[in-house]
Amino acid sequence: MLKIPDVLFLLCALGAADAVYKQWIPDTNYENETNWDKGSVPIGNDRVQFSASRKVSVYVETVHSVQEMRLPVDGEFILTSGAGFSVGAGGYKPGAVVKFKDVESLQWFDPALWQAASTADDLEKGRFLFSVHEESVPCRYDNVVFKAHSSFRVDLSSNRPSVPVQSVSVLGKTFRSNSEFSRYLGSPSGRLQFHGSSSISLGSSGCSDVSGCECGNAASLEKICGHVECSSVTCKKPLRPVGHCCDVCGAIVTLQYVPGFNLETYRQRLMHIFLGLTPYKSIQLGISKVEKSRWFLGVFPRQGAAEIQIVLMDGETGHKAGMVAEALARDILKDAQSAGSNLGIAEAEFQASSGSSSSHGSGRDTGMVLGTIFGVLIVVGGVFLLVFLYYRGAIKVPSLPTITMPSLSSLKRSSEIGDLGGPMDHGFDNPMFDKPTVIPAVPGLYGAENANSISLTQSGVHFVNPAYDDSETDFNA
Ligand SMILES: *[C@@H]1O[C@H](CO)[C@@H](O)[C@H](O)[C@H]1NC(C)=O
Repeated sequence: MLKIPDVLFLLCALGAADAVYKQWIPDTNYENETNWDKGSVPIGNDRVQFSASRKVSVYVETVHSVQEMRLPVDGEFILTSGAGFSVGAGGYKPGAVVKFKDVESLQWFDPALWQAASTADDLEKGRFLFSVHEESVPCRYDNVVFKAHSSFRVDLSSNRPSVPVQSVSVLGKTFRSNSEFSRYLGSPSGRLQFHGSSSISLGSSGCSDVSGCECGNAASLEKICGHVECSSVTCKKPLRPVGHCCDVCGAIVTLQYVPGFNLETYRQRLMHIFLGLTPYKSIQLGISKVEKSRWFLGVFPRQGAAEIQIVLMDGETGHKAGMVAEALARDILKDAQSAGSNLGIAEAEFQASSGSSSSHGSGRDTGMVLGTIFGVLIVVGGVFLLVFLYYRGAIKVPSLPTITMPSLSSLKRSSEIGDLGGPMDHGFDNPMFDKPTVIPAVPGLYGAENANSISLTQSGVHFVNPAYDDSETDFNA
Protein backbone atom coordinates (compact mmCIF):
# COMPACT_ATOMS: atom_id res chain seq x y z
CA MET A 1 0.00 0.00 0.00
CA LEU A 2 1.19 3.50 -0.77
CA LYS A 3 1.83 5.82 2.15
CA ILE A 4 0.99 9.47 1.82
CA PRO A 5 4.58 10.59 1.14
CA ASP A 6 4.78 8.00 -1.64
CA VAL A 7 1.59 9.28 -3.19
CA LEU A 8 2.87 12.84 -2.99
CA PHE A 9 6.11 11.78 -4.58
CA LEU A 10 4.22 9.97 -7.32
CA LEU A 11 2.11 13.05 -7.98
CA CYS A 12 5.21 15.23 -8.15
CA ALA A 13 6.92 12.80 -10.48
CA LEU A 14 3.87 12.72 -12.75
CA GLY A 15 3.70 16.49 -12.69
CA ALA A 16 7.34 16.89 -13.52
CA ALA A 17 6.88 14.55 -16.46
CA ASP A 18 4.55 17.12 -17.99
CA ALA A 19 7.38 19.45 -18.98
CA VAL A 20 7.45 20.43 -22.61
CA TYR A 21 10.51 20.06 -24.82
CA LYS A 22 11.39 23.09 -26.94
CA GLN A 23 13.91 22.64 -29.69
CA TRP A 24 15.91 25.40 -31.36
CA ILE A 25 15.45 24.98 -35.11
CA PRO A 26 18.36 26.77 -36.83
CA ASP A 27 21.82 25.30 -36.81
CA THR A 28 25.24 26.40 -37.99
CA ASN A 29 26.15 23.03 -39.48
CA TYR A 30 28.53 22.99 -42.40
CA GLU A 31 26.38 20.40 -44.20
CA ASN A 32 23.16 22.38 -43.95
CA GLU A 33 22.75 24.02 -47.32
CA THR A 34 20.51 26.76 -45.91
CA ASN A 35 23.60 28.08 -44.13
CA TRP A 36 25.30 29.00 -47.41
CA ASP A 37 24.47 32.06 -49.47
CA LYS A 38 24.25 30.01 -52.69
CA GLY A 39 21.83 27.55 -51.11
CA SER A 40 24.21 24.61 -51.44
CA VAL A 41 27.21 23.27 -49.55
CA PRO A 42 30.51 24.36 -51.14
CA ILE A 43 32.27 21.75 -53.26
CA GLY A 44 35.44 21.21 -55.25
CA ASN A 45 37.11 24.45 -56.09
CA ASP A 46 34.71 26.75 -54.26
CA ARG A 47 36.30 29.46 -52.15
CA VAL A 48 34.70 29.40 -48.73
CA GLN A 49 34.36 32.58 -46.71
CA PHE A 50 33.31 33.11 -43.14
CA SER A 51 32.72 36.71 -42.15
CA ALA A 52 35.89 37.84 -40.44
CA SER A 53 34.19 39.75 -37.65
CA ARG A 54 31.68 37.07 -36.67
CA LYS A 55 31.97 34.42 -34.02
CA VAL A 56 30.68 31.05 -34.98
CA SER A 57 30.84 27.40 -34.04
CA VAL A 58 30.45 25.04 -37.02
CA TYR A 59 29.63 21.36 -36.83
CA VAL A 60 31.19 19.23 -39.57
CA GLU A 61 30.25 15.59 -40.20
CA THR A 62 32.06 14.59 -43.39
CA VAL A 63 35.08 15.47 -45.51
CA HIS A 64 34.80 18.53 -47.74
CA SER A 65 37.09 19.72 -50.43
CA VAL A 66 37.62 23.42 -50.79
CA GLN A 67 40.12 25.49 -52.69
CA GLU A 68 40.44 28.25 -50.17
CA MET A 69 38.89 29.09 -46.82
CA ARG A 70 38.74 32.41 -44.98
CA LEU A 71 38.08 31.87 -41.33
CA PRO A 72 36.52 34.20 -38.78
CA VAL A 73 38.65 35.83 -36.09
CA ASP A 74 36.86 33.81 -33.40
CA GLY A 75 35.35 30.51 -34.29
CA GLU A 76 35.57 26.73 -34.10
CA PHE A 77 34.91 23.66 -36.17
CA ILE A 78 33.42 20.75 -34.28
CA LEU A 79 34.65 17.80 -36.32
CA THR A 80 33.02 14.42 -35.80
CA SER A 81 35.24 11.45 -36.40
CA GLY A 82 35.92 11.13 -40.11
CA ALA A 83 35.14 14.77 -40.81
CA GLY A 84 37.68 17.19 -42.25
CA PHE A 85 38.74 19.33 -45.17
CA SER A 86 40.87 18.62 -48.16
CA VAL A 87 42.31 21.58 -49.98
CA GLY A 88 42.86 21.82 -53.69
CA ALA A 89 41.13 18.60 -54.66
CA GLY A 90 38.94 20.47 -57.14
CA GLY A 91 41.85 21.59 -59.32
CA TYR A 92 43.55 24.94 -59.59
CA LYS A 93 40.85 26.81 -61.49
CA PRO A 94 39.53 29.33 -58.99
CA GLY A 95 35.93 28.57 -58.18
CA ALA A 96 32.99 30.61 -56.98
CA VAL A 97 33.02 32.44 -53.67
CA VAL A 98 30.57 30.78 -51.25
CA LYS A 99 29.80 32.61 -48.04
CA PHE A 100 28.56 31.19 -44.77
CA LYS A 101 25.37 32.98 -43.72
CA ASP A 102 25.31 35.51 -40.92
CA VAL A 103 23.65 33.88 -37.91
CA GLU A 104 24.37 36.72 -35.49
CA SER A 105 20.81 38.02 -35.43
CA LEU A 106 19.00 34.79 -34.54
CA GLN A 107 17.22 35.44 -31.26
CA TRP A 108 16.01 33.22 -28.47
CA PHE A 109 12.76 35.22 -28.27
CA ASP A 110 11.84 34.66 -31.91
CA PRO A 111 8.91 32.21 -31.68
CA ALA A 112 9.45 31.03 -35.27
CA LEU A 113 12.80 29.49 -34.34
CA TRP A 114 11.41 26.92 -31.89
CA GLN A 115 9.40 23.75 -32.13
CA ALA A 116 7.73 22.07 -29.18
CA ALA A 117 6.82 18.49 -28.25
CA SER A 118 5.45 16.72 -25.17
CA THR A 119 8.30 14.24 -25.00
CA ALA A 120 11.84 13.94 -26.31
CA ASP A 121 10.59 11.05 -28.43
CA ASP A 122 7.88 13.21 -30.04
CA LEU A 123 10.53 15.80 -30.75
CA GLU A 124 12.59 13.27 -32.68
CA LYS A 125 9.59 11.86 -34.53
CA GLY A 126 8.43 15.33 -35.52
CA ARG A 127 5.16 15.24 -33.55
CA PHE A 128 5.17 18.90 -32.68
CA LEU A 129 2.75 20.86 -30.54
CA PHE A 130 1.09 24.06 -31.64
CA SER A 131 1.16 26.93 -29.16
CA VAL A 132 0.52 30.63 -28.91
CA HIS A 133 3.55 32.84 -29.58
CA GLU A 134 4.37 33.43 -25.92
CA GLU A 135 4.62 29.69 -25.33
CA SER A 136 6.51 28.91 -28.53
CA VAL A 137 9.57 30.35 -26.84
CA PRO A 138 10.80 28.19 -23.92
CA CYS A 139 8.76 28.65 -20.73
CA ARG A 140 10.36 28.52 -17.31
CA TYR A 141 9.48 24.84 -16.78
CA ASP A 142 10.58 23.67 -20.21
CA ASN A 143 13.44 21.50 -21.34
CA VAL A 144 15.42 23.30 -24.01
CA VAL A 145 16.98 21.15 -26.69
CA PHE A 146 19.67 22.07 -29.19
CA LYS A 147 19.81 19.26 -31.72
CA ALA A 148 22.35 16.64 -30.75
CA HIS A 149 24.44 16.71 -33.94
CA SER A 150 24.42 20.43 -34.39
CA SER A 151 26.19 23.64 -33.70
CA PHE A 152 24.24 26.84 -33.26
CA ARG A 153 24.46 30.45 -32.19
CA VAL A 154 21.66 32.11 -30.23
CA ASP A 155 21.26 35.70 -29.07
CA LEU A 156 19.79 35.68 -25.57
CA SER A 157 19.35 39.44 -25.20
CA SER A 158 16.24 40.40 -23.26
CA ASN A 159 14.97 42.92 -20.77
CA ARG A 160 15.54 40.43 -17.96
CA PRO A 161 18.97 39.48 -16.61
CA SER A 162 18.25 35.80 -16.78
CA VAL A 163 16.05 33.48 -18.78
CA PRO A 164 14.81 30.67 -16.52
CA VAL A 165 14.27 27.17 -17.92
CA GLN A 166 14.35 23.70 -16.42
CA SER A 167 17.17 22.16 -18.44
CA VAL A 168 19.28 22.68 -21.55
CA SER A 169 20.65 20.02 -23.86
CA VAL A 170 23.64 20.90 -26.02
CA LEU A 171 25.28 18.40 -28.41
CA GLY A 172 23.48 15.57 -26.65
CA LYS A 173 24.51 16.55 -23.12
CA THR A 174 21.76 17.71 -20.76
CA PHE A 175 22.48 20.36 -18.13
CA ARG A 176 20.20 20.66 -15.11
CA SER A 177 22.23 22.65 -12.64
CA ASN A 178 23.39 26.21 -12.90
CA SER A 179 26.96 25.59 -11.76
CA GLU A 180 27.59 22.91 -14.35
CA PHE A 181 26.01 24.95 -17.11
CA SER A 182 27.86 28.15 -16.32
CA ARG A 183 31.10 26.18 -16.55
CA TYR A 184 30.02 25.13 -20.02
CA LEU A 185 29.08 28.71 -20.95
CA GLY A 186 32.63 29.73 -20.04
CA SER A 187 34.11 27.17 -22.42
CA PRO A 188 35.09 28.15 -25.99
CA SER A 189 32.03 26.36 -27.44
CA GLY A 190 29.70 27.88 -24.87
CA ARG A 191 30.90 31.39 -25.62
CA LEU A 192 30.40 30.89 -29.35
CA GLN A 193 26.96 29.32 -28.99
CA PHE A 194 25.31 31.71 -26.55
CA HIS A 195 25.65 35.48 -26.64
CA GLY A 196 23.66 38.54 -25.66
CA SER A 197 22.86 40.47 -22.51
CA SER A 198 20.93 37.76 -20.63
CA SER A 199 22.01 34.35 -19.50
CA ILE A 200 20.11 31.13 -19.01
CA SER A 201 19.34 30.10 -15.45
CA LEU A 202 18.60 26.45 -14.80
CA GLY A 203 17.26 24.43 -11.97
CA SER A 204 13.61 25.31 -11.93
CA SER A 205 12.04 22.12 -10.65
CA GLY A 206 9.58 21.78 -13.47
CA CYS A 207 5.85 22.23 -13.34
CA SER A 208 4.53 20.30 -10.34
CA ASP A 209 0.88 21.16 -10.95
CA VAL A 210 -0.85 18.54 -13.07
CA SER A 211 -3.43 21.11 -14.12
CA GLY A 212 -0.59 22.90 -15.90
CA CYS A 213 1.63 25.88 -15.21
CA GLU A 214 1.62 29.28 -16.73
CA CYS A 215 4.45 29.80 -19.15
CA GLY A 216 5.91 32.86 -17.43
CA ASN A 217 6.86 34.68 -20.62
CA ALA A 218 4.19 37.38 -20.31
CA ALA A 219 6.82 39.96 -19.41
CA SER A 220 8.64 39.22 -22.66
CA LEU A 221 5.55 39.22 -24.84
CA GLU A 222 6.42 42.54 -26.45
CA LYS A 223 9.88 41.30 -27.35
CA ILE A 224 8.46 38.05 -28.67
CA CYS A 225 5.84 39.83 -30.76
CA GLY A 226 8.53 42.09 -32.21
CA HIS A 227 9.59 39.07 -34.27
CA VAL A 228 6.11 38.22 -35.51
CA GLU A 229 4.49 39.62 -38.59
CA CYS A 230 0.74 39.12 -38.54
CA SER A 231 -1.07 38.27 -41.74
CA SER A 232 -4.42 39.88 -42.40
CA VAL A 233 -7.47 37.91 -41.35
CA THR A 234 -10.74 37.61 -43.21
CA CYS A 235 -13.19 36.47 -40.56
CA LYS A 236 -15.94 38.60 -39.06
CA LYS A 237 -14.72 38.83 -35.48
CA PRO A 238 -11.04 37.90 -35.29
CA LEU A 239 -9.94 36.58 -31.90
CA ARG A 240 -6.80 37.38 -29.94
CA PRO A 241 -5.82 34.43 -27.74
CA VAL A 242 -3.98 35.19 -24.50
CA GLY A 243 -0.24 35.06 -25.21
CA HIS A 244 -0.66 35.38 -28.97
CA CYS A 245 0.67 38.28 -31.02
CA CYS A 246 -1.89 38.24 -33.81
CA ASP A 247 -5.62 38.18 -34.37
CA VAL A 248 -6.71 34.80 -35.64
CA CYS A 249 -9.71 33.17 -37.29
CA GLY A 250 -10.91 30.11 -35.44
CA ALA A 251 -12.24 29.49 -31.97
CA ILE A 252 -11.11 29.70 -28.36
CA VAL A 253 -12.49 27.31 -25.76
CA THR A 254 -12.05 28.40 -22.16
CA LEU A 255 -12.24 25.91 -19.30
CA GLN A 256 -12.59 26.52 -15.58
CA TYR A 257 -10.98 23.59 -13.83
CA VAL A 258 -11.24 22.00 -10.40
CA PRO A 259 -8.83 19.66 -8.58
CA GLY A 260 -8.48 16.50 -10.60
CA PHE A 261 -7.95 18.25 -13.89
CA ASN A 262 -4.83 17.02 -15.67
CA LEU A 263 -3.70 19.15 -18.60
CA GLU A 264 -1.58 16.50 -20.31
CA THR A 265 -4.24 13.81 -19.99
CA TYR A 266 -6.83 16.18 -21.35
CA ARG A 267 -4.57 17.17 -24.25
CA GLN A 268 -4.16 13.49 -25.11
CA ARG A 269 -7.91 13.03 -24.91
CA LEU A 270 -8.56 15.86 -27.37
CA MET A 271 -5.88 14.50 -29.72
CA HIS A 272 -7.32 11.00 -29.68
CA ILE A 273 -11.01 11.78 -29.77
CA PHE A 274 -11.05 14.71 -32.18
CA LEU A 275 -7.86 15.43 -34.08
CA GLY A 276 -7.89 11.97 -35.64
CA LEU A 277 -11.24 12.68 -37.29
CA THR A 278 -11.00 13.51 -41.00
CA PRO A 279 -12.66 16.94 -40.86
CA TYR A 280 -10.36 18.00 -38.02
CA LYS A 281 -7.08 16.71 -39.49
CA SER A 282 -5.86 20.19 -40.43
CA ILE A 283 -6.73 21.79 -37.10
CA GLN A 284 -4.02 23.41 -35.02
CA LEU A 285 -4.81 22.97 -31.34
CA GLY A 286 -2.93 24.80 -28.63
CA ILE A 287 -3.87 24.15 -25.00
CA SER A 288 -2.33 25.79 -21.96
CA LYS A 289 -3.02 27.41 -18.64
CA VAL A 290 -3.23 31.18 -18.94
CA GLU A 291 -4.05 34.05 -16.66
CA LYS A 292 -6.84 36.16 -18.00
CA SER A 293 -7.42 39.57 -16.54
CA ARG A 294 -11.15 39.78 -15.98
CA TRP A 295 -13.35 42.80 -15.73
CA PHE A 296 -16.09 43.25 -13.19
CA LEU A 297 -19.15 44.68 -14.94
CA GLY A 298 -16.81 45.45 -17.82
CA VAL A 299 -15.29 48.37 -15.94
CA PHE A 300 -13.31 47.39 -12.86
CA PRO A 301 -10.25 45.16 -13.21
CA ARG A 302 -10.62 42.00 -11.18
CA GLN A 303 -7.96 39.64 -9.92
CA GLY A 304 -6.73 37.63 -12.88
CA ALA A 305 -7.81 34.01 -12.73
CA ALA A 306 -6.02 31.00 -14.12
CA GLU A 307 -7.98 29.08 -16.69
CA ILE A 308 -7.34 26.65 -19.49
CA GLN A 309 -7.26 28.15 -22.96
CA ILE A 310 -7.69 25.99 -26.04
CA VAL A 311 -6.87 27.80 -29.25
CA LEU A 312 -8.28 26.19 -32.40
CA MET A 313 -7.27 27.27 -35.88
CA ASP A 314 -7.99 25.69 -39.23
CA GLY A 315 -6.26 26.17 -42.55
CA GLU A 316 -9.38 27.56 -44.23
CA THR A 317 -9.42 30.97 -45.87
CA GLY A 318 -12.00 33.46 -47.06
CA HIS A 319 -15.52 33.18 -45.67
CA LYS A 320 -14.83 29.62 -44.50
CA ALA A 321 -11.92 30.68 -42.27
CA GLY A 322 -12.44 29.45 -38.73
CA MET A 323 -15.62 27.48 -39.41
CA VAL A 324 -14.05 24.03 -38.96
CA ALA A 325 -12.39 25.24 -35.77
CA GLU A 326 -15.77 26.45 -34.54
CA ALA A 327 -17.34 23.05 -35.22
CA LEU A 328 -14.57 21.45 -33.17
CA ALA A 329 -15.11 23.97 -30.38
CA ARG A 330 -18.77 22.92 -30.20
CA ASP A 331 -17.73 19.26 -30.07
CA ILE A 332 -15.24 19.96 -27.30
CA LEU A 333 -17.94 21.77 -25.35
CA LYS A 334 -20.33 18.86 -25.72
CA ASP A 335 -17.60 16.51 -24.51
CA ALA A 336 -16.85 18.80 -21.56
CA GLN A 337 -20.53 18.89 -20.63
CA SER A 338 -20.93 15.13 -20.69
CA ALA A 339 -17.57 14.07 -19.23
CA GLY A 340 -16.49 17.26 -17.49
CA SER A 341 -17.13 16.03 -13.94
CA ASN A 342 -14.74 13.11 -14.48
CA LEU A 343 -12.14 15.30 -16.10
CA GLY A 344 -12.10 18.06 -13.51
CA ILE A 345 -13.77 20.60 -15.76
CA ALA A 346 -16.20 22.85 -13.93
CA GLU A 347 -17.22 25.06 -16.79
CA ALA A 348 -16.54 25.38 -20.49
CA GLU A 349 -17.33 28.09 -22.98
CA PHE A 350 -16.19 29.11 -26.43
CA GLN A 351 -15.87 32.11 -28.66
CA ALA A 352 -15.59 31.87 -32.43
CA SER A 353 -14.36 34.31 -35.02
CA SER A 354 -17.71 34.02 -36.83
CA GLY A 355 -19.15 36.02 -33.95
CA SER A 356 -20.96 33.16 -32.25
CA SER A 357 -20.20 31.88 -28.79
CA SER A 358 -21.61 29.46 -26.28
CA SER A 359 -24.80 30.96 -24.88
CA HIS A 360 -23.87 29.70 -21.44
CA GLY A 361 -20.60 31.58 -21.32
CA SER A 362 -21.75 34.83 -22.81
CA GLY A 363 -24.95 34.73 -20.76
CA ARG A 364 -23.11 34.64 -17.47
CA ASP A 365 -21.57 38.09 -17.54
CA THR A 366 -24.52 39.68 -19.28
CA GLY A 367 -26.77 38.03 -16.72
CA MET A 368 -24.76 39.50 -13.91
CA VAL A 369 -24.94 42.99 -15.42
CA LEU A 370 -28.67 42.74 -16.03
CA GLY A 371 -29.21 41.37 -12.55
CA THR A 372 -27.37 44.29 -11.04
CA ILE A 373 -29.29 46.81 -13.13
CA PHE A 374 -32.62 45.25 -12.17
CA GLY A 375 -31.57 45.19 -8.55
CA VAL A 376 -30.82 48.90 -8.61
CA LEU A 377 -34.08 49.62 -10.44
CA ILE A 378 -36.12 47.67 -7.88
CA VAL A 379 -34.52 49.54 -4.98
CA VAL A 380 -35.03 52.93 -6.62
CA GLY A 381 -38.56 52.00 -7.63
CA GLY A 382 -39.30 50.93 -4.08
CA VAL A 383 -38.14 54.26 -2.69
CA PHE A 384 -40.22 56.13 -5.22
CA LEU A 385 -43.27 54.08 -4.36
CA LEU A 386 -42.80 54.75 -0.64
CA VAL A 387 -42.45 58.46 -1.21
CA PHE A 388 -45.41 58.42 -3.52
CA LEU A 389 -47.65 56.54 -1.10
CA TYR A 390 -46.54 58.77 1.74
CA TYR A 391 -47.70 61.85 -0.09
CA ARG A 392 -50.84 60.22 -1.30
CA GLY A 393 -51.86 59.62 2.26
CA ALA A 394 -50.55 62.80 3.83
CA ILE A 395 -51.85 65.46 1.51
CA LYS A 396 -55.20 66.10 -0.06
CA VAL A 397 -53.65 66.65 -3.38
CA PRO A 398 -56.57 68.28 -5.23
CA SER A 399 -56.75 71.08 -2.70
CA LEU A 400 -53.33 72.43 -3.60
CA PRO A 401 -53.91 75.99 -4.65
CA THR A 402 -51.28 76.14 -7.37
CA ILE A 403 -50.41 73.22 -9.56
CA THR A 404 -48.90 74.78 -12.63
CA MET A 405 -45.38 73.42 -12.72
CA PRO A 406 -43.18 76.29 -13.93
CA SER A 407 -44.14 78.44 -11.04
CA LEU A 408 -42.06 77.01 -8.27
CA SER A 409 -42.34 79.94 -5.98
CA SER A 410 -46.07 79.57 -5.86
CA LEU A 411 -45.71 75.86 -5.16
CA LYS A 412 -43.30 76.51 -2.36
CA ARG A 413 -45.47 79.14 -0.92
CA SER A 414 -48.29 76.68 -0.86
CA SER A 415 -46.36 74.70 1.72
CA GLU A 416 -46.06 77.81 3.81
CA ILE A 417 -49.78 77.97 4.03
CA GLY A 418 -49.54 75.12 6.49
CA ASP A 419 -53.22 74.20 6.32
CA LEU A 420 -52.77 70.89 4.62
CA GLY A 421 -52.34 68.67 7.63
CA GLY A 422 -48.77 69.15 8.77
CA PRO A 423 -45.42 70.08 7.33
CA MET A 424 -45.27 69.54 3.67
CA ASP A 425 -42.22 68.39 1.90
CA HIS A 426 -41.76 68.08 -1.82
CA GLY A 427 -39.07 65.57 -1.19
CA PHE A 428 -36.94 66.30 -4.20
CA ASP A 429 -34.56 69.06 -4.85
CA ASN A 430 -35.04 69.44 -8.55
CA PRO A 431 -32.28 71.35 -10.31
CA MET A 432 -34.86 72.56 -12.83
CA PHE A 433 -36.35 74.67 -10.11
CA ASP A 434 -35.47 78.24 -9.74
CA LYS A 435 -33.55 78.11 -6.47
CA PRO A 436 -32.61 81.74 -5.96
CA THR A 437 -36.26 82.62 -5.40
CA VAL A 438 -36.73 79.58 -3.20
CA ILE A 439 -33.95 79.94 -0.70
CA PRO A 440 -35.18 83.13 0.93
CA ALA A 441 -38.70 81.80 0.90
CA VAL A 442 -38.00 78.57 2.77
CA PRO A 443 -34.85 79.11 4.74
CA GLY A 444 -35.35 76.08 6.95
CA LEU A 445 -35.52 73.56 4.15
CA TYR A 446 -32.75 74.91 1.97
CA GLY A 447 -29.99 75.53 4.38
CA ALA A 448 -26.53 74.10 4.57
CA GLU A 449 -27.75 70.57 3.97
CA ASN A 450 -28.83 71.57 0.55
CA ALA A 451 -25.41 70.71 -0.86
CA ASN A 452 -25.75 67.05 0.12
CA SER A 453 -27.28 64.65 -2.27
CA ILE A 454 -29.32 63.06 0.51
CA SER A 455 -30.14 64.83 3.70
CA LEU A 456 -32.43 64.24 6.59
CA THR A 457 -34.59 66.96 7.98
CA GLN A 458 -37.48 66.73 10.44
CA SER A 459 -39.81 66.69 7.53
CA GLY A 460 -38.38 63.86 5.50
CA VAL A 461 -35.68 62.59 3.17
CA HIS A 462 -34.35 64.80 0.42
CA PHE A 463 -32.88 63.50 -2.74
CA VAL A 464 -31.08 65.33 -5.44
CA ASN A 465 -32.11 63.23 -8.34
CA PRO A 466 -31.47 64.80 -11.70
CA ALA A 467 -33.21 61.89 -13.40
CA TYR A 468 -36.41 62.53 -11.60
CA ASP A 469 -39.16 64.00 -13.66
CA ASP A 470 -41.98 65.64 -11.77
CA SER A 471 -44.44 65.38 -14.60
CA GLU A 472 -44.35 61.58 -14.52
CA THR A 473 -45.66 61.21 -11.02
CA ASP A 474 -49.02 62.47 -10.15
CA PHE A 475 -48.86 63.43 -6.53
CA ASN A 476 -49.27 67.01 -7.54
CA ALA A 477 -52.17 66.31 -9.82
C1 LIG B 1 19.02 23.37 -41.90
O1 LIG B 1 18.70 24.62 -41.30
C2 LIG B 1 17.33 24.96 -41.40
C3 LIG B 1 17.14 26.36 -40.89
O2 LIG B 1 18.12 26.77 -40.05
C4 LIG B 1 16.52 23.95 -40.64
O3 LIG B 1 15.14 24.26 -40.72
C5 LIG B 1 16.76 22.56 -41.17
O4 LIG B 1 16.11 21.61 -40.38
C6 LIG B 1 18.26 22.25 -41.20
N1 LIG B 1 18.47 20.98 -41.89
C7 LIG B 1 18.86 19.91 -41.26
C8 LIG B 1 19.06 18.70 -42.11
O5 LIG B 1 19.06 19.87 -40.07
